[in-house]
Amino acid sequence: MKQQGGRFITVEGGEGAGKSSNLAFVQSLLEAAGKKVLFTREPGGTPLGESIRELLLGHKHTGMADETELLLMFAARAEHLRRKILPALESGTWVLCDRFTDASYAYQGAGRGITRDRIAILENYVQGDLRPDLTLLLDLPVETGLERAGNRSAPDRFEKEAMDFFKKVRQGYLDIAASEPDRVRIIDASPALEQVQAQISHVIQDYLASSDG
Ligand code: TMP
Repeated sequence: MKQQGGRFITVEGGEGAGKSSNLAFVQSLLEAAGKKVLFTREPGGTPLGESIRELLLGHKHTGMADETELLLMFAARAEHLRRKILPALESGTWVLCDRFTDASYAYQGAGRGITRDRIAILENYVQGDLRPDLTLLLDLPVETGLERAGNRSAPDRFEKEAMDFFKKVRQGYLDIAASEPDRVRIIDASPALEQVQAQISHVIQDYLASSDG
């Protein structure tokens, strides 16, 4: 699964990190640089993937086994990659994805306790050698994030988890960033939006200047 042409950029972060507005901002920066951008999300991004998302986030299957959860994430991802992400990259389109496999390591790995090695088996099986080229991790203290997210719509199955779960997820993401500092760039999502966007802009301009795309 060798990618040609487009670059694969992902955005990750905990609850209330401001993913939606910042994703739109990243897209606008890339488009201003003349890139054709496909924006998509996980779990989801295809009709089948969106149905799997409903199973994962809805409350119909509250007692879902951790392994089922992980496998459903990767089932949605397999479909997403083959039907949408890889064809786009091959045609030279840049793909901007709201969450990807780092979320499986953070939520199912650090959060639920599934080992890295098991997740890596699925990652290699489903993705071959495809990995994001650049990942922005919107990081902020769990308390701040939950406060910000608190006044939104009814919580999904993940949002109902306890504080301790989100702390493990945050640490999981920070561990990934520490082990892959070139790919994963930490954005401090605590300050006001303009300051967050200034950091994002810096990282994206830097990436555009260094990538030959
Ligand atoms: P969100 O994209 O709207 O934040 O919701 C997706 C939820 O799914 C979020 O709580 C994180 C979770 N998730 C995982 O647990 N593992 C994954 O691999 C992905 C992509 C998402």
